[in-house]
Amino acid sequence: MKTLKLGVLVSGSGSNLQSIIDNVENKRLDAEISVIICNNPGAYAIDRAAKHGIPSVVIDHHDFEDREAFDREMIAVLKSHDIDLVIMAGFMRILTPLFLRTFPMRIMNIHPALLPSFQGIHAQERAFEYGVKFSGCTVHFADEGVDTGPIITQAVVPVLDDDTADTLQQRILMEEHRIYPQAIQFYAEGRLEVVGRKVRIRDHAGVSEVPHHNPPLEAF
Ligand code: GRF
Repeated sequence: MKTLKLGVLVSGSGSNLQSIIDNVENKRLDAEISVIICNNPGAYAIDRAAKHGIPSVVIDHHDFEDREAFDREMIAVLKSHDIDLVIMAGFMRILTPLFLRTFPMRIMNIHPALLPSFQGIHAQERAFEYGVKFSGCTVHFADEGVDTGPIITQAVVPVLDDDTADTLQQRILMEEHRIYPQAIQFYAEGRLEVVGRKVRIRDHAGVSEVPHHNPPLEAF
């Protein structure tokens, strides 16, 4: 099987990038990270890539007159590395239709909420303030909306009585680090089939039919 070549787009801390690096290095993920692109020159994600010998390219969006010019530069870098799949890992820019058309159903994003709830920024804080009893995270293919593309996988994280927005965010992040490499591995194995809005995953282990309640149901 040909090794899947990833181009990872980052803007910040890069903990999701780290989880992908770790899973590549421990060979759970049949992929290689060919390049990371970062739009923020000070991002810690760049140090993480350097520590693992992964080439990184800083493309500061402030240097471009519009989104399309910025995206054209990213496309050129990704094409020069011959990448198969684009991974948005905490990438805080909206992609233009030009970029999306260049890599159709070949761009994944992770979002720290159970989509379609709480699309956009500050999702964990907004879910917490709203008072949800469950939140979580979602890996999906990118489309022309913000956090609207076909859903590949989700993890549900209960909100605990003594949670703060911060502790909830940390627990969601731990699940992000598990489901993102898994979604990429599904792709690497050619097991994802997109039909309209739905993503079918061939031969997965099956889903528990047990509903979850928070708080738990009591006898009454
Ligand atoms: C994650 O919560 C991700 O879901 C969101 O931005 C955050 C990035 O974190 N899109 P990191 O840079 O991967 O640590």
